Amino acid sequence: MNIILLGPPGAGKGTQASRLVHERGMVQLSTGDILRAAVAAETEVGRRAKAVMDAGELVSDEIVNGILSTRLDEPDIEQGFILDGYPRTAAQAEALDRLLAEKGKKLDHIIELCVDEDSLVDRITGRFSCCKCGAGYHDRYKLPKIPELCDVCGAEDSFRRRPDDNEQTVRNRLAEYRSKTAPILPFYEAKGIVSRIDGMAPIAQVSAAIEAILER
Ligand code: AP5
Repeated sequence: MNIILLGPPGAGKGTQASRLVHERGMVQLSTGDILRAAVAAETEVGRRAKAVMDAGELVSDEIVNGILSTRLDEPDIEQGFILDGYPRTAAQAEALDRLLAEKGKKLDHIIELCVDEDSLVDRITGRFSCCKCGAGYHDRYKLPKIPELCDVCGAEDSFRRRPDDNEQTVRNRLAEYRSKTAPILPFYEAKGIVSRIDGMAPIAQVSAAIEAILER
C-alpha cells in the first residue's frame, strides 16, 4: 500500500504517518525530515535549503525530486510508503508519476486532511518534539505526563522546537500551500484515488478515518 497524506502545515500529516509506521509497519517518506537532517548535517543540500525553509518557502523542485528519487531506491519501501510533504508542486507531482512508473510502483490512495486554517497557527506554534525518538507533543493538546521527560523513550530535557514553527513563517508556509500545493489535487482527482477526511477531528478519530480508507 503506497499513499500520500496531503494537507497544509499542521494538518496532522506527520502525526498520522508516525502512527501508520508503528501500527502498519509502513515507511514514512517525509521530505521535510530529510531536508532537516541535511541542514543539521550541513551537507550541500542542507546549506542550499536552510534559508528557504527558515523563510517558509518551498525548496527547489530539482533538490526535492532528487532526494525523493534516491529514497525510493532503498529496499524498505517495499513495505509500503507514506509520502508526507511530497509532492508540493505540479512539477513534483509529475516527477513522482515518472519515478513511480520507472520503479514499477503505484499510488493506492491520496488522503487529504481538511482543516480550518485559523487553527493551524495555534497547532504549529505550540508543537515540540523529543529529539531522541521524535515523539510529538503540544503545549496545550498533548503535554508529556512528567514535565521535561519524554513519555515514549524516557529521555530527559530532550524537547526541541522547529526553527520554522514561528507565526510569520507558518503564515508564509500556508500561503505556499494555497498557491502551489492545493492546485495539484485535481491532477490526482482525475485518477480517482483522492479521499477527504476531517483533519479537525480528534487525533484518534482522524486515524480511524484513515484506517477505513486503507481497508476499502
Ligand atoms: P514539512 O516538514 O513537510 O512541514 P509542513 O508540511 O509544513 O508540515 P508540518 O510538519 O508542519 O505539519 P504536519 O501536517 O505534519 O502536522 P503535525 O502532525 O506535526 O516541511 C517543512 C519545510 O521543508 C517546508 O516549509 C519547505 O521549506 C521544505 N519542504 C519539505 N518538503 C518539501 C517539498 N516537497 N518541496 C519543497 N519544499 C519542501 O501536527 C501539528 C501539531 O498539531 C502537532 O503538535 C500535533 O500534535 C497537533 N495535531 C495533529 N493532529 C491533530 C488533531 N487532529 N487535533 C489536534 N491537534 C492535532
